Amino acid sequence: MIIVMSSRTTGLLMASLGAGAVATGYLMSDNAAASADQRRKLYPPSADYPDLRKHNNCMASALTPAIYAKLRDKITPNNWTLDQCIQTGVDNPGHPFIKTVGMVAGDEESYEVFAEIFDPVIKDRHNGYDPRTMKHPTDLDASKIHSGVFDDHYVLSSRVRTGRSIRGLSLPPACSRSERREVERVTVQALAGLKGDLSGRYYSLTEMTEEEQQRLIDEHFLFDKPVSPLLTASGMARDWPDARGIWHNNDKTFLIWINEEDHTRVISMEKGGNMKRVFERFCRGLKQVEHLIQERGWEFMWNERLGYILTCPSNLGTGLRAGVHVRLPKLSKDPRFGKILENLRLQKRGTGGVDTAAVGDTFDISNLDRLGRSEVELVQLVIDGVNYLIECEKRLEKGQDIKIPAPIQQSRK
Ligand SMILES: *[C@@H]1O[C@H](CO)[C@@H](O)[C@H](O)[C@H]1NC(C)=O
Repeated sequence: MIIVMSSRTTGLLMASLGAGAVATGYLMSDNAAASADQRRKLYPPSADYPDLRKHNNCMASALTPAIYAKLRDKITPNNWTLDQCIQTGVDNPGHPFIKTVGMVAGDEESYEVFAEIFDPVIKDRHNGYDPRTMKHPTDLDASKIHSGVFDDHYVLSSRVRTGRSIRGLSLPPACSRSERREVERVTVQALAGLKGDLSGRYYSLTEMTEEEQQRLIDEHFLFDKPVSPLLTASGMARDWPDARGIWHNNDKTFLIWINEEDHTRVISMEKGGNMKRVFERFCRGLKQVEHLIQERGWEFMWNERLGYILTCPSNLGTGLRAGVHVRLPKLSKDPRFGKILENLRLQKRGTGGVDTAAVGDTFDISNLDRLGRSEVELVQLVIDGVNYLIECEKRLEKGQDIKIPAPIQQSRK
């Protein structure tokens, strides 16, 4: 049953009895099985609005009391709520190295049902991309890439990754065990169809030995259990390691992670600086995986405004992160390094992942944007940007001066 109580009455009761007494009275006299959801509705949204005063993430900047009030009681078809979307951003006010997004989706519909908060967050995170008016382009034609081979003296490894989600199944923060196992089943069956240089096998996290697991982690092929509070607070590490695993080809240059932060993460990588070859394999493998999934009656989550739908809004669009491990001992000590990266729309991470500071002189440099530009455009942007960084490093080695390049603008209106 539903109890209608005005906020004024609630306020009076709370003042005289305390909130605990209200909840207890309600449970005893009305319905012992009342859901947390129904009980919460005794309180107005303003009483639930999170304290975001010390926060620095995109969600906290965009979530006004009015938007919260409008969305608090909405649910997606999978019963996912706004509070579940924003919990990670409430619990993690900031991050030492990156401005975080502060929210995740529980299912494909989250982006529609809670569009009033997701849209401004997406606009903030994606360099002004407006999901209400813009369309996202996809281009997986690797033959368009030029100057894609870096100087191996500076670039130690090259990598391109994206994610793909299977339509109809909840995303990792929200999925049930059965849905997560279904993602694994559908993906592993499809991957068994890959041929030639892409053929390989699946290693389930629950079935591989500890030695095998550690070897794959040491080789940077395998994901470890997510320990970052950004990830654990969103709920995506539940039931670890159930239904998680890695598939890789025999050369270990094409990899699929299953049920980490996204249903799938697709990765092409190799040592050295041949980004063009890495991207060519990425495009070819990804198209084949999509085809194999479709043959079995499934499809990836996608729409023309948001591109490929993934758990974190930062990964919408292409979901693509093209990156290199590059040695920049001189440039990285120059005070202009940060501004140069910013103007080139590049992001710097430590070589151990999103939460790590840089170790020594080697940096993980990748594209900052995922949405509004195609895969080809983003990979070219990384190639041009990293070549510029290497050029700066060489100039500094010779004692010459360097310039901060003009900022790259968002190309689409
Ligand atoms: C959502 O919640 C309602 C009410 O508790 C329930 O009847 C329904 O089955 C739930 N839907 C899903 C997809 O879990």
